[in-house]
Amino acid sequence: MGSFLFAALSLASLVSASFDGNLNYHSPSRRHEGLGIDVPKVVQRSLVKRSAPWDPAQLNFTHGVASGDPYPHSVILWTRIAPSLVSDGSNVTVTGNVPFYSHETEKYIKASPNPICVEYRVGTDGNFSSVVDKGTAYTTSDIDFTVKIETKNLAPFKTYYYQFNVCGSSNKSPLGRTKTSPDHDDAVSKVGLAVFSCSNYPNGYFNAYGNAARKDEVDFFVHLGDYIYEAGKGKLGKDPRATNPEKEIFSLYDYRTRIGQYRTDLDLRLAHQNFAWIPTWDDHEVANNGYRDGFSGMNNTEDSFRKFGGISVDSRKMNAVRAYFEWMPIRQVDMDDNLRIWRNFKMGKLFDLIMLDTRNYDRSITTLNWNDDYIEELKDDAGRSLMGSPQENWFYRQLSESNARGATWRIVGNQIIFSRMNNSAVYSNPLNADQWDVTGDSHANWVSDLVWLDETPYDQVTGAGAIGVEFAGTAVSSSGYGAGRSIANSSDKSAGLVRDNRELQWAEGYYRGYYELHISPDELNARYYGSPSVATRNPFEVSLANFTVKAGANHLQRNVANGRVESGALQRGQTVPTNLTLNTQTGTWNVTGFNQMFIAY
Ligand SMILES: *[C@@H]1O[C@H](CO)[C@@H](O)[C@H](O)[C@H]1NC(C)=O
Ligand SMILES: *[C@@H]1O[C@H](CO)[C@@H](O)[C@H](O)[C@H]1NC(C)=O
Ligand SMILES: *[C@@H]1O[C@H](CO)[C@@H](O)[C@H](O)[C@H]1NC(C)=O
Ligand SMILES: *[C@@H]1O[C@H](CO)[C@@H](O)[C@H](O)[C@H]1NC(C)=O
Ligand SMILES: *[C@@H]1O[C@H](CO)[C@@H](O)[C@H](O)[C@H]1NC(C)=O
Ligand SMILES: *[C@@H]1O[C@H](CO)[C@@H](O)[C@H](O)[C@H]1NC(C)=O
Ligand SMILES: *[C@@H]1O[C@H](CO)[C@@H](O)[C@H](O)[C@H]1NC(C)=O
Ligand SMILES: *[C@@H]1O[C@H](CO)[C@@H](O)[C@H](O)[C@H]1NC(C)=O
Ligand SMILES: *[C@@H]1O[C@H](CO)[C@@H](O)[C@H](O)[C@H]1NC(C)=O
Repeated sequence: MGSFLFAALSLASLVSASFDGNLNYHSPSRRHEGLGIDVPKVVQRSLVKRSAPWDPAQLNFTHGVASGDPYPHSVILWTRIAPSLVSDGSNVTVTGNVPFYSHETEKYIKASPNPICVEYRVGTDGNFSSVVDKGTAYTTSDIDFTVKIETKNLAPFKTYYYQFNVCGSSNKSPLGRTKTSPDHDDAVSKVGLAVFSCSNYPNGYFNAYGNAARKDEVDFFVHLGDYIYEAGKGKLGKDPRATNPEKEIFSLYDYRTRIGQYRTDLDLRLAHQNFAWIPTWDDHEVANNGYRDGFSGMNNTEDSFRKFGGISVDSRKMNAVRAYFEWMPIRQVDMDDNLRIWRNFKMGKLFDLIMLDTRNYDRSITTLNWNDDYIEELKDDAGRSLMGSPQENWFYRQLSESNARGATWRIVGNQIIFSRMNNSAVYSNPLNADQWDVTGDSHANWVSDLVWLDETPYDQVTGAGAIGVEFAGTAVSSSGYGAGRSIANSSDKSAGLVRDNRELQWAEGYYRGYYELHISPDELNARYYGSPSVATRNPFEVSLANFTVKAGANHLQRNVANGRVESGALQRGQTVPTNLTLNTQTGTWNVTGFNQMFIAY
């Protein structure tokens, strides 16, 4: 059926409803129609066209499936169904320049492809012996042929399977698996999260995603930002991890293409296919060291506008954000404020997961490479903000409401390290002005008792006086202070950090990887994992360190990490490295040591 529907005017409202079902027509904001797609006009255009409907054989589910933002009774489902892997190049922008719909663009309308119709179904098993939800949605080039729907009527904290197909055809997407969150008042005994950040495609393979997905030990995947990077690197066709586009990205087409390329990575694709994700962004989803009015490489000035061929800071941000919302399986929370991504998930009585944006929403100026002296003068100014006051007020309210509703834990997902960190052991500038210190993403593992320095006494040995615990994870593939260093040398650097920061209990800079949080009413366990190498796609990983926090304790359980870690440096503890030798003939690692390596394939 599909495009046949468009032949009859009387069906216009029905069609419009089906377009509405694809949330991406309102991306990124329902409240700002000018930023979304004008659905009635897309419908009109479709009615005018009357060109031959798609042959399902011409269409592909080009980038698998994804799901995310689990609520107790609904989840977001995502796919892309398109005539080509290549993203739409029209670069529709927020400037009011919407070439699709003006009368002069009749030609363009004629050339624009027909809408594509997909059906979806959701079941309690992968054979769909019991279908709990189904529906139809349309997509077009306007939204890069992406499909994002909210499936409803689901039961809390339950696994579901879903699949898309081209309407009336057996051209099917891969089978996806997802999960709802617990209901707000449910007494859940255990929820697991795998936590990722800083996945830089040209810098290495995404073994972390693949290992966590295949191990299958958690309920949800959380990404704390830098899901993509904007810079260009390498030569396509020559370097296996060259970026697409090869250059730095600016236009809508560029951002769509870059995210699309990341989603061709098999490990990332598997991770999306089998888990519901809860992501937030950091700077590189748009551009390096972003803040409210610019980036390290782009100013909000006329000069800059000319230099970058007519792209302003705002339009670049909108291009990035629009592509992000089109491609990521997340909800559009109340978009009263147009760049809002901060949102909260109530995981039963167990915890609130509060996801922040310390980057794009309303951040005051940060270090931009050329303004260090200015930032140094400015850093203690009371008017400075990382989150902006609407988000800050919202954040405090979430914390109090979580406490009032009796949730055991309050877990805050944030992009940059919160603890004050004296970095002099690894960097020339001891404090990082891009973090909360003065208030990033650090690409290393840091575990600290959270202390209110100079206000509340803190006992490093027992943890007394701490007000919480901070778990910061290394990068999926971006480089940190261990880059170019041996494991042992990197651990020496970590020892310097642990020496200079009393509340820092463990630092580790060699491995790329991720961590899992296993949360229960009595305690929370954090397990850190490292990939021995991201230079190749491989299924090996090392257990780096384990931590426990007892409910109500507000500090790490002693002995921290049972007194022994695999790599890095532990306050009052031992580092016992696994001996890793790559057998170049078999491509496998010879492992000796206390810590068994997990083989995930
Ligand atoms: C769709 O995928 C199939 C199988 O991978 C491939 O042979 C075909 O060329 C693709 N079609 C398009 C239009 O990309
Ligand atoms: C959109 O931007 C890309 C480069 O980023 C360019 O190649 C393409 O021609 C642009 N499309 C239009 C319709 O301007
Ligand atoms: C489909 O059903 C078969 C037979 O009952 C079962 O073995 C298989 O696991 C099911 N597949 C999925 C994905 O649920
Ligand atoms: C932004 O402005 C600063 C200060 O004028 C200048 O040093 C810097 O080079 C500019 N950056 C770009 C990318 O034009
Ligand atoms: C950071 O640590 C270094 C080395 O121990 C020390 O000399 C310096 O005073 C410390 N800086 C701050 C701001 O604490
Ligand atoms: C490790 O440190 C030693 C001593 O400083 C140095 O000689 C060696 O080159 C370093 N090796 C690596 C791989 O960092
Ligand atoms: C972490 O705990 C797991 C068991 O859950 C164990 O296999 C592993 O060796 C531990 N890792 C370290 C570094 O202690
Ligand atoms: C693994 O390492 C051990 C200890 O170095 C060595 O005895 C053994 O031969 C190695 N095995 C392989 C398969 O390389
Ligand atoms: C690693 O290998 C070295 C040299 O072969 C050996 O001295 C050391 O005990 C080994 N470490 C572990 C943890 O097995």
